[in-house]
Amino acid sequence: MILVTGGAGFIGTNFVLDWLTQSDEEIINLDNLTYAGNLENLASLKDDKRHIFIKGDICDSTLILSLLTKYKPRAIINFAAESHVDRSIQDPEGFIQTNIVGTFRLLETTRAYWGTLELEMRQKFRFLHISTDEVYGSLSNGEEAFDENHRYEPNSPYSASKAASDHLIRAYHHTYDLPVLTTNCSNNYGPYQFPEKLIPLIIVNALTDKPLPVYGDGQQIRDWLYVKDHCDAIRLVLEAGAPGETYNIGGRNEKPNINIVHTVCALLDTLHPRTDGKRYHQQITFVTDRPGHDRRYAINSKKIECELGWKSAETFETGIQKTVQWYLDNQSWVQSVQSGTYRLWIDKNYKGRGL
Ligand code: NAD
Ligand code: DAU
Repeated sequence: MILVTGGAGFIGTNFVLDWLTQSDEEIINLDNLTYAGNLENLASLKDDKRHIFIKGDICDSTLILSLLTKYKPRAIINFAAESHVDRSIQDPEGFIQTNIVGTFRLLETTRAYWGTLELEMRQKFRFLHISTDEVYGSLSNGEEAFDENHRYEPNSPYSASKAASDHLIRAYHHTYDLPVLTTNCSNNYGPYQFPEKLIPLIIVNALTDKPLPVYGDGQQIRDWLYVKDHCDAIRLVLEAGAPGETYNIGGRNEKPNINIVHTVCALLDTLHPRTDGKRYHQQITFVTDRPGHDRRYAINSKKIECELGWKSAETFETGIQKTVQWYLDNQSWVQSVQSGTYRLWIDKNYKGRGL
């Protein structure tokens, strides 16, 4: 079996659901259900014995060691993190705790467990750490996309905490030979993404007749990757990646934010037109920029494409259409995740921006 952390969040949910459609290998899912974790995402697995959910914190060494000893996983995939840049700017402490201390505790307990394994299992064991392109900093237009050798230059408390965790992963391989793998991917989008992130926030605000907030001039560029393509890449790296290596995963879909917002508005105009004859783009509102806002991310995925044969299946056009349709078809999920704490966050983040 394998152990995943953060499997009730956006990418983790998609990964767990995908895994169990493709394999009968059991998954232990360790998640402490922060505001971003939602067990409802995994309701379809309620009676599925292949999915064992444990509510717990990756900082809890005693719990992790007991899980490792009890279930003896052949691999660990670490998705668990505080993941929202704007929250890291408002309140960085939790990012240091989960992303740095949590990764450290996972590594330490894994090192202890791995040391007890018999040779064959020791050799086959893998620890796969899910990281981000943000650790590389910001590109200007015309600069080469990030490859795996790009210097680390994180600019936000979030990306700095992820960079620190990547360095710990690297050090555990270099010092202890722990068979680790790291993936650094670009912006994911797709089903189950919490509506604090750009694409689901725009869909949710559009449908409730609220302003569609675009930071600064809206010309910041992100490289969009459909979440199921990311999950395929993770499975491939887990099975065929070389220990100690890093693989960058991107969608080859560099788009300015304002274009993303217009694309979502146009899709909604077709799939769910406003009843008053107006167009959704009329709700777009430019607001105060994110402090330290990175201008451009772009990923060079050649290594994973050439060495492991990965290729994304979705174009941005097909992926975004599926995503908007998923949110339209899952209105009860959308409503259920907009709790009181969600509304508090929205007030906190957008009031100061002039909304
Ligand atoms: P998310 O915020 O949607 O989910 C994070 C999950 O981790 C939640 O279920 C949460 O409950 C859980 N969690 C948080 N702290 C925990 C702790 N201390 N112990 C146990 N569980 C904890 O995040 P996501 O978008 O699914 O991102 C998953 C991973 O991928 C993160 O490591 C993130 O840095 C990375 N990543 C995300 C993107 C993206 O575009 N979403 C891109 C690149 C990398
Ligand atoms: O690049 C990978 C990263 O992508 C991941 O590591 C992070 O976990 C993930 O959250 C994401 O970070 P971003 O900051 O790029 O994602 P976000 O959806 O928050 O913002 C995308 C872009 O849209 C960014 O340039 C900021 C802008 N934006 C965002 C929000 C929430 C707006 O213009 N308006 C908004 O309301």
